[in-house]
Amino acid sequence: MLGDKKDLLGLKELSAQEINEILTQAEFMKKIVLSDNKKSQHLMGRSVITLFYENSTRTRLSFELAAKYMSANAANVSAGTSSVSKGETLIDTARTIDRMGTDIIVLRHSMSGAPHLIAKNVKASVINAGDGMNEHPTQALLDMFTIREKKGRIEGLKVAVTGDILHSRVARSNIYGLTKLGAEVSLGGPATLIPPHLEDLGVKVFKSIQEAMIDADVVMGLRMQLERQKSGLFPTLREYNRFFGIDEKRMQFAKPDAIVLHPGPVNRGVELTSGVVESSFIDEQVTNGVAVRMAIMYLLSRRENI
Ligand code: CP
Repeated sequence: MLGDKKDLLGLKELSAQEINEILTQAEFMKKIVLSDNKKSQHLMGRSVITLFYENSTRTRLSFELAAKYMSANAANVSAGTSSVSKGETLIDTARTIDRMGTDIIVLRHSMSGAPHLIAKNVKASVINAGDGMNEHPTQALLDMFTIREKKGRIEGLKVAVTGDILHSRVARSNIYGLTKLGAEVSLGGPATLIPPHLEDLGVKVFKSIQEAMIDADVVMGLRMQLERQKSGLFPTLREYNRFFGIDEKRMQFAKPDAIVLHPGPVNRGVELTSGVVESSFIDEQVTNGVAVRMAIMYLLSRRENI
């Protein structure tokens, strides 16, 4: 049960039962998100702080709205405008936030393992909103929620994940989560952007995205991290798009009713053509992100020693 846990740090640590618990709770939360009265009592009197050391639109705003929809007190700390810029350490910043009566700290940080570190040093529940190249568990949970909603199940589906697997914390969390729920995961992308030994995690790896996409029920494009282009891991965006972009022609390798997902932000014309973006469920993923984050915060808030 997620209610027995203090923190949500990654899907590596969650059981299939705990993942399903979150997805089922999120179905209820989505009704609140879509209603005219977005106010429930699920986090009444609790305080949620989002602490972001990297830029974000979707994750940060959806956590803040999710907290407010459940009547929590919510505030944000950005590294650039906080005392972090005066040299305060991550642990000291987290302890300071903790001592203000905070119940949940949502952390995004460029260092893999940062949420695990602060979780050991604060009383508040810590939720990983993306740590370096490690995990982005709430993104993968909203992806799985969207798949379950659109396909009715996850077990037995073939999910193709394409693009920059190497740097993608979204890919890593989805690999852990989807394989635990019984999906078959195929990875495809440039050889320079696929780390070794991924097969050990129970997935299949292909050097072309067409092979990965054959008979896929779900095609998940990943953000091409433009900052990586400088490090010579792929030649140009145009070439990336030519060989690894998801377009209408390549979609024919997937099943006719395959759905397209992308965590966002999308580089249109690079990972996906505009036509594929328009026929995808990216907008629905954003809505589902609020519901899933409501479910996670509510379930964590039920632990007895809070
Ligand atoms: N998918 C995702 O993490 O988006 P943001 O960087 O906008 O939060």
